[in-house]
Formats: sequence, structure tokens, C-alpha cells
Amino acid sequence: MEGVVSLGVGEPDFATPWPISEAAIHSIEKGHTHYTSNYGMLELRERLAQHLAARYGVAYDFHTQLLITVGVSEGVDLAMRAIINPGDEVLVPEPSYVSYKPCVVLAGGVVVPVATSQANAFKLTPADLEAKITPKTRALIISYPNNPTGAVMTKREMEAIAEVAKRRNLIVVSDEVYDRLVYGGHSHVCFASLPGMQERTIFLGGFSKSYAMTGWRVGFAAAPDDIIEAMVKIHQYTMLCAPTPGQTAALQALHTDDRLVENMVREYDRRRRVLLKGLNRIGLDCFEPQGAFYAFPSIKATGMRSNAFSEALLKEERVAVIPGSAFGEAGEGHVRCCYAVSLHEIEEALVRIERFVKRRRAK
Ligand SMILES: Cc1ncc(COP(=O)(O)O)c(C=O)c1O
Repeated sequence: MEGVVSLGVGEPDFATPWPISEAAIHSIEKGHTHYTSNYGMLELRERLAQHLAARYGVAYDFHTQLLITVGVSEGVDLAMRAIINPGDEVLVPEPSYVSYKPCVVLAGGVVVPVATSQANAFKLTPADLEAKITPKTRALIISYPNNPTGAVMTKREMEAIAEVAKRRNLIVVSDEVYDRLVYGGHSHVCFASLPGMQERTIFLGGFSKSYAMTGWRVGFAAAPDDIIEAMVKIHQYTMLCAPTPGQTAALQALHTDDRLVENMVREYDRRRRVLLKGLNRIGLDCFEPQGAFYAFPSIKATGMRSNAFSEALLKEERVAVIPGSAFGEAGEGHVRCCYAVSLHEIEEALVRIERFVKRRRAK
């Protein structure tokens, strides 16, 4: 379809910062084009351990507690397959990233959704969590900053979740792929850094979003030895190792000036504010996203279901958004708009969405 403005795809529009790409090119020129250890390049793991200690105060042994994965995507799959026995229940706060449920099911587990809503800023509450725990509950998957809502949890709120996890003996899979993308004075809380959590957390992180490196396919899992050992058993037969040029690029990313990330975050923040203001002006009531690069406005004003809204908006005005229902039942009544596109595109999308909403309201 021609002339489409897409707020659909969830990836940075920036090119990977040049020093990162250049390091990978040089390494290919030097012939570093072979397998690495199953765990990932030693030098990358060592640097990553330093990075996590400095940034979040979490200490991981880079020989036994870190695994370089093919993106956080592989990390989610490995985590589920490593910890789930058939019939185990896994709690998934919704709206949630689309891969969690299928990965739980593929591992033989049972998904138990825990609904969050705009009324509580799309945050998981200890009471909602506790209400869904049964003797079969094995794990909880959390992801803040959140895709698709942009919600971020404070330290105190996270501590309350941690308390439940400890008391009810849950493993927590914490997908922190958006850790660097937080705005408006909010800060990211690394779940494993909370007291008593490191020993029960599978901390997943990556390079895709913060460093605009989606195509390099590199992420990591940080967890207790026995869990990493179980994950490596699967990883070594399914992936063998993450791509070598990608790992070299990731290593360079960890040596690169922080300002490269900060500049991108500043630009996302500018776009975020323009989109948020525009959506609210149009009458699509929007929760203020505090992290990641998504806005999740309510489409209640139009009286439409999210699927019908997204389809009609694309056909009539050529703007692509994702129906909230794609992220679970709790996402119905909303659509996801990604603001990792240029300001010009955001402004154009807002003009078109406004026309569309006005027409629907007049009906
Ligand atoms: C919450 C979340 N986790 C994981 C991923 C996948 O990340 P990666 O590119 O590192 O596989 C995405 C991509 O959109 C995401 O939104």
C-alpha cells in the first residue's frame, strides 16, 4: 500500500551508531567470522558483567551466570523451556509483548493472564498478582518499561511484587530490553537488583532497542548458574551461539560513549510528547507513556473495537497502528502507536487520525 505512515513496527528508525557497525566490519576484515563459545564471546560476557555491576549493582559471574542469546527473543524462549514442566502455570501481566504467551505454550506451560488497565497506569499490583497464584504457578514474566503501554514501575512498586515472588516462591523472568528508554525523570529498576531477587530472577536484556541494533540479533540472559546451565543445554543444540559479528558489535556498544544512547532517548522523548499531546487533543485519551517507544491511547471515543479501528484507519487514512487486542484481552479498547519514527511522520499521522476520528464521531 502506498503512502502509508506506519506507527506499527516496534523498532528504532535510527541507524546503528557508526562506531558499533565499524567495529563489526573491522572484525570481519580480520577474519572473526567463526563460532564463539556456546555461552558467547568471553570478552563480551566479561564486559557485560562489568556493565551490569556498574549500572544496576548486580554481580554476575561471567563464566557461569551470563549467556549471550540471539536477541531477547531467544532469551524468552530458552527461559520458558528451561524452567517449565508440563502443566506449570506462568503469570503474564497483560497487555503484554506478543511472544510471551506462545513461548509459554511451546514449553508445555499454561498461561495465566493478569490484567492491568489504564485506571492503574498499566502497572502490576501485588493484589492482582496474588489473586492468580495457585499451587501450579511456577513463574511470572514482567517487562517494564512495557510494550505496548509504555508503563514503568517505581522501585517501591517493584519491591511489593518482589515480596510476593519471594513469599510464593516464584521465578521471575524480567524482560528489560527497554531499560535505557525512560523519560520524564523516571528511572529504570532492574528487578534482579532488589533484595533477595537475584537468586530467583532470569534477567533478560539486549541491544536491539537502546542501541538501534535490532538486526544484529544479540541479547543476554543473566541468572543463577543452574538456570543458565539449563538454558545453555537448549541453546547449544538450537543456536550453537549468537552471531559473531553481532557479538562484536554488542561489545563495541558497551564501550561506546553513553551520549549515543542519550541522544536517541532525547529524540524519542520529543516525539513522545508531540504524539501524546496530539492524541489527547484529538480525543483519544492517552495514558502518559514513561518508557519504551509506544503510546497506547484509548479508542473508546469512537465506539469501535481495536481490530476494526486499525483496519479502517489503514484503509481510509493509510495510517498503520496495532490493535490493542493483539497484546491480550486487556488491550482491547486501545491501539498501539510506535513513536520511533520521524516527527514529520508523527505529525502527518496525527492529522490523518484526527480526520478519521472526526468522521467516526459524526456517524
Ligand atoms: C518486550 C520485548 N521483548 C523482546 C523483544 C525482542 O527483542 P530482540 O530484538 O532483542 O529479540 C521485543 C521487540 O519488540 C520487545 O518489545
